[in-house]
Amino acid sequence: ILPAVSARKGQAFHFGSTYDTTEAPQSWFDTMFESFFKHVVSENGCKWDATEPEQGVSNLTECQACRSFATARGNSFRGHNTFWHQQMPAWLPGNFTASELVGNIIPQHVKQEIGGMGPSVTSWDVVNEVVGDNATTGMTALQCVLSKADWPTVTADGSGIPLVKDLSFVYAAFSTAFATAGPNTRLAVNDYNTGGQDAKTECEIALIKSIHENTHIPFDRLAIGFQSHLTAAVGGFYTKSELATTFSTLAKLGVEAMITEMDIELATNSTAFLRYQAAIWGDYLDACLYASNCNEFINWDPRDDLSWRGLPAAATLFDGEGNPKPAAYEVAARLENFAAGKPE
Ligand code: XIL
Repeated sequence: ILPAVSARKGQAFHFGSTYDTTEAPQSWFDTMFESFFKHVVSENGCKWDATEPEQGVSNLTECQACRSFATARGNSFRGHNTFWHQQMPAWLPGNFTASELVGNIIPQHVKQEIGGMGPSVTSWDVVNEVVGDNATTGMTALQCVLSKADWPTVTADGSGIPLVKDLSFVYAAFSTAFATAGPNTRLAVNDYNTGGQDAKTECEIALIKSIHENTHIPFDRLAIGFQSHLTAAVGGFYTKSELATTFSTLAKLGVEAMITEMDIELATNSTAFLRYQAAIWGDYLDACLYASNCNEFINWDPRDDLSWRGLPAAATLFDGEGNPKPAAYEVAARLENFAAGKPE
């Protein structure tokens, strides 16, 4: 069905899931990534602690193994991520000055990782989760980033004093990514609790505009990743029309929108909540499918027993034994519907 979806969109539509080579059972992964998921993100293997365990020592073994798994099944691959305040290598936090970080450490890492993985990557999360949760409307991009409570832990001295007080670390990461990535690779900012009409989403848009203005990377190489770690509860997700409004704002700029880490926690693993979950999943997928500028949709963790949100959260498309849940059938139906040229 995905080739038909891509044909109707007029460009490749990448629908897939996280994968790590240590996850089992392998036979289930083989089947699912041949038939249902056709796009791969390494869940942890491309993060900074994995890829540069010692300063200046590149280790792309797991990141590349995940991409090889994808390629062997005719699947595409997305990169997550080159900069995040979590899963940093132990040698990094607190050990460098602002000018060392911005001038050397961050660009050197981005270059070794993106360069080492080569051009066959659909998109990279260049910076992950740099916007604060208590952002307020009208903030500048810098205010958005400085409002993040745990941001300084990345680039701070031993007492937690933030060293980098401007967006130079973001611009350095993006400039290096742009100079290093393949010509078709989109470069993304990626964050949670984003997608609708609210201050944090406004911040993502302000940030992508400021990256464009300061690095001169064309808008048509940039993207905003909407992680979409949701809950099936009032206020736990955005509506389809809220997402569509945001995606169309980005389309006017030429910026791509991506659903990058979709999962939906259930309050109760009951039939009613499984149907609620399916409906939300279907709406997110439709918002992406019917937008001209949304071409990647990643489900975060392929099955409930492997989910970072825990088995009881039942947050993925497949249950703890790997059997499809109502949301998996809903997703398949929405893809069929789109491919058949029907309205959302
Ligand atoms: C999570 C992984 O799923 C876990 O296995 C790991 O222990 C912690 O990170 N936002 C992100 C992802 O951008 O990288 C996180 O992944 C989930 C939240």
